[in-house]
Amino acid sequence: MKRLSIAIDGPAGAGKSSVAKILARRMGYTYLDTGAMYRAVTYEALRRGIEEEAAIAAMAAGLDMTVAPGEGRMRVFLSGEEVTDHLRTAEVSGAVSRVSAIPDVRTVMVALQRKLSAAGGTVLDGRDIGTVVLPKADVKIFLTASPRTRAIRRYKELGGSEAGLSVDEIEADIRRRDLLDSTRAASPLVAAEDAVHLDNSDLTLEETAEAIMKICREKAGEER
Ligand code: DC
Repeated sequence: MKRLSIAIDGPAGAGKSSVAKILARRMGYTYLDTGAMYRAVTYEALRRGIEEEAAIAAMAAGLDMTVAPGEGRMRVFLSGEEVTDHLRTAEVSGAVSRVSAIPDVRTVMVALQRKLSAAGGTVLDGRDIGTVVLPKADVKIFLTASPRTRAIRRYKELGGSEAGLSVDEIEADIRRRDLLDSTRAASPLVAAEDAVHLDNSDLTLEETAEAIMKICREKAGEER
């Protein structure tokens, strides 16, 4: 069967990365977490204390970033040093929207993402995969869920009441990020015209992955 390239885009908390990982495992494909790549640029900018946009872009262009599959998540290395554990901190999460909105940062990341997925047999998740990174992806999914559903998922992920944040506060943050990601000038979050829209508010991750696998099987069947 042809090894497909699969693009999964959608807002934060829709379950893109969880679903992408399930798909990659089941299909024997490589999972490329493009958000982690923007997070790595952000982490390095914070570490070096670089704030100005042009300087962040110049730094991104000079980064030696490599990735590798890992247990349950993609691993990221900068000049050979693993930074995976530093990418999901509140500090990086707070700054990544701004960094990922810098056009020259996007150009560098998109080129790297295309290179890493050139051979096919890849599942990419992000915001602009079907529109910009891989406009010719074999399968494009635009995955959404209601802001409330996404907030509840995140609340549980953070350990419920242990998190110190209420569902309402998380929902407000999700709505803020949605707005930032969908209204920025560079590659705003929009569905590709030929993407299949999938709202998984009432589906489990397994059911979501199964729905996408079905689309992939149909696509692979068409192209055999
Ligand atoms: O999916 P995530 O939360 O790890 O993404 C982190 C940030 O990077 C988020 O603000 C959206 C942005 N991003 C992007 O602009 N383009 C992508 N392809 C992936 C993520």
